Amino acid sequence: MGGLLHRAFRRIGTGMQDIRNIVILTGAGISAESGIDTFRSEGGLWEQHRIEDVATPEAFARDPDLVLNFYDMRRENIQKAQPNAAHVALAKLDRDWSGNLLIITQNVDDLHERAGATRLIHMHGEHLSAWCMACDARTTWRDALKHRPPCPSCGAAALRPDIVWFGEMPYRMDEIETALRQCDLFVSIGTSGAVYPAAGYVRTTRHYGAYTLELNLDPSQGSILFHETRLGRATELVPAWVEGLVA
Ligand code: APR
Repeated sequence: MGGLLHRAFRRIGTGMQDIRNIVILTGAGISAESGIDTFRSEGGLWEQHRIEDVATPEAFARDPDLVLNFYDMRRENIQKAQPNAAHVALAKLDRDWSGNLLIITQNVDDLHERAGATRLIHMHGEHLSAWCMACDARTTWRDALKHRPPCPSCGAAALRPDIVWFGEMPYRMDEIETALRQCDLFVSIGTSGAVYPAAGYVRTTRHYGAYTLELNLDPSQGSILFHETRLGRATELVPAWVEGLVA
């Protein structure tokens, strides 16, 4: 199957565009139906907590217990969640598409990889990784951090969540930038378009000639920038889009 799905043609305006390089951006909406809270929906995480209290380096310096506790609870929750039909559909596309494909996720859960996706960048970090502030090592981490366990590499009690907080630089920006410039199709799934740099990717990819598609429950802040927006649940829209693409 893999070798067959390397190209698709999509009607855009009056012409046909040859699609070989795909970039997919995902946000909290793709994991919502797996039971993981989004950030900005009604009752979402940022209604329950202030960003300034739990998601900045300053918050961590001021009250590490509060911040570690917040991420310990979330790390525990994501391990109980299961990938849904949207994660599974993207993993299938990743497996079968022999052209370039990159899934850039803003999510810090591991549901894309548990569904089987491999061409994946966690631009905002990962819950299941701990970062040692003393020796810079990153270690796969499933347990709590609030009791200050020693770093497996250097022994210092200096582990923090490997999460990109507000005011910090997202990961692997060079690779992301290259993929954005080269893609023919950019698809944004389940993100409100409120946080940069990810919110700007639709502009970048359009500038370089990509067709841009948004799949989201509600119109996002950037909906107007896309060639096409489809509204609905990720578990319905994403499998249908993948089927249409490879048909
Ligand atoms: N299917 C599709 N989309 C959904 C669903 C669903 N079942 N449920 C919610 N959504 C949509 C909402 O309509 C909203 O537009 O997902 C989007 C979620 O938006 P946010 O909560 O803002 O999440 P996200 O865009 O991923 O946030 C970006 O903000 O605080 C930071 O670092 C955090 O990575 C996060 C970043």
